[in-house]
Amino acid sequence: MSIEEPTIDEEQLNELVGTAVSDLGGAFQAALADIGDTLGLYTALADAGPLNAGELAEHTDTNERYIREWLRSQAAGGYVTYDSETARYSLSPEQTVVLADEDSPAFMLGGFQGTNTVIAAVQDDIEAAFRTGEGVGWHEQHPELFSATERFYKPSYAASLVDEWIPALDGVDARLKAGGRLADVGCGHGASTIIMAEAYPDSTFVGIDYHEHSIDTARERAEEAGVADRVDFEVGTAKEYNGSEYDVVTMFDCYHDMGDPVGVAAHVRETLAADGTWMLVEPFANDRVEDNLNPVGRVFYGFSTMFCTPNSLDQGADPALGAQAGEARLREVVTKGGFSHFRRATETPFNLVLEARP
Ligand SMILES: C[S@@+](CC[C@H](N)C(=O)[O-])C[C@H]1O[C@@H](n2cnc3c(N)ncnc32)[C@H](O)[C@@H]1O
Repeated sequence: MSIEEPTIDEEQLNELVGTAVSDLGGAFQAALADIGDTLGLYTALADAGPLNAGELAEHTDTNERYIREWLRSQAAGGYVTYDSETARYSLSPEQTVVLADEDSPAFMLGGFQGTNTVIAAVQDDIEAAFRTGEGVGWHEQHPELFSATERFYKPSYAASLVDEWIPALDGVDARLKAGGRLADVGCGHGASTIIMAEAYPDSTFVGIDYHEHSIDTARERAEEAGVADRVDFEVGTAKEYNGSEYDVVTMFDCYHDMGDPVGVAAHVRETLAADGTWMLVEPFANDRVEDNLNPVGRVFYGFSTMFCTPNSLDQGADPALGAQAGEARLREVVTKGGFSHFRRATETPFNLVLEARP
């Protein structure tokens, strides 16, 4: 009996090989973008370009031969623009925004910061965890992850949190303007806490995170920003943090990381005033897997496999939401925790902004 060979669709085959080649280039790009960031190569191109390799090397005190190779890799990937007439490289306005404008919500270098180091540091543990099902806590990750996370999310918080997200919630802007009390749970380095403290000088803020090292850094950031008078940072878990009668509780890109989302919701309910609001910012996701199979979903499923799901499993997750939970699953756990009102207040291509009230 002969076994029939499966028919190969040449077009689909070429497409898949193309994707794999592009991914292989992307794996190197993660390191090369990080090098460009650290050595100031993108900012030098933005400030002084167009430049050839020798000129860029001179501007950045680096070696011309390495720079020539780096520039060619960047041009091949579409990260810098090559002019064959002058043999010089430059950043287009769009490349400048993504690679050299730290304040733009489209700035992406935070995503590349230490990516290879962070992933390489945890890869063996995650591979082992695939077999055992055990977790790997956020605190066990390479320290570069904590700063990279801050730098990755901060530009979008700076652009949208005060101007768009809070105004999309019922009455929260007015309450914070009048002088309210807000707890920012899972605050990491406190980027969101500090942005809100700067915008609402009559309110008081407490940033809470179970990770002591992050809380130490958040305190330093608040001092640097000159808001330490109205912001406290405390080590605490989302299920047991202190306080009561908060006007607002916020969680930015961290609820899905937590081991017991229903228990967390119940604790938020307990610590919130009867007419208070819980603001949840979560990675953008649709409810059905098939609707998340796109480039943004791919990045978030990647984060989720390496960082988020392992952290929630480390906290005994039930259920482990993952970074692509979607509104319906979030509604389910939030309402199980005792909230009767839940709605999507607004969204961006990267975030869902959700409002829960008792
Ligand atoms: C992806 S980071 C987000 C940090 C910060 N909210 C931001 O947007 O930059 C997730 C954060 O959740 C914190 N975290 C995880 N589980 C926690 C828990 N059970 N209680 C409090 N914080 C927790 C981690 O320490 C980490 O700082």
